[in-house]
Amino acid sequence: MVYLKFTTLLSLLAAVSAAPASELETRAVPKDTAFGFLALRSASPIHYQSLNASGGKIWLGKKTSTYCPLPAKQCPKGKDTSFWINNQGGTAGMNTVVPGGQQVYIGPTGELSYTQAHSAFIPAGSTQTGFKVTERNSIIFLENCNNSFLACPVDKKSKTSGPWQVFVDVKGKLKDKDVPTKCKKDCLGFTPAGGPVKDAVWQYA
Ligand SMILES: *[C@@H]1O[C@H](CO)[C@@H](O)[C@H](O)[C@H]1NC(C)=O
Ligand SMILES: *[C@@H]1O[C@H](CO)[C@@H](O)[C@H](O)[C@H]1NC(C)=O
Repeated sequence: MVYLKFTTLLSLLAAVSAAPASELETRAVPKDTAFGFLALRSASPIHYQSLNASGGKIWLGKKTSTYCPLPAKQCPKGKDTSFWINNQGGTAGMNTVVPGGQQVYIGPTGELSYTQAHSAFIPAGSTQTGFKVTERNSIIFLENCNNSFLACPVDKKSKTSGPWQVFVDVKGKLKDKDVPTKCKKDCLGFTPAGGPVKDAVWQYA
């Protein structure tokens, strides 16, 4: 398994984005690894922004927030946000070592979310399945059913500069009132693409 740095991933992605879809080779997804993802949406401010975990939600243009209760030397080495995807069950989890793990789910109003450490609480009306990864030309693509990933600015100002909160519009049911600016049209659709990430974090905070 070759683990990529985010910078290497960027150049790979640039090459793949430029290639016609028909030239992309579909292969088996590597097993036993977590993946990190960047947003693909050319000619937009979210292009190549990394999907980062903070405060139980996933963001573009926001720093990853982690916590480790151990002395620094005993903490896992991970710094980036990465996910385990179970293609069979369609479920996803955060790449953490905290006992109990951190489950990924789509909240009742579409927010891509993860459970708090030491808690299995998931709000009623959430969706925990539909996640899938595929590999094309060494790039891992994250999908959820209709590939309806949206980056929604947190306010009118953040439309061009971020941060953007990641939503998944599972059945096209996301409403204006569900997104931070109360206008779904402010959100940008994107494709999450990435590669293997080796190091876990203790927990995402
Ligand atoms: C998001 O995480 C990536 C990878 O760890 C990092 O390079 C990037 O700076 C982070 N984004 C922000 C806005 O901090
Ligand atoms: C895909 O989108 C269509 C139209 O928006 C919707 O009717 C359908 O339920 C969606 N499928 C899934 C699996 O989300």
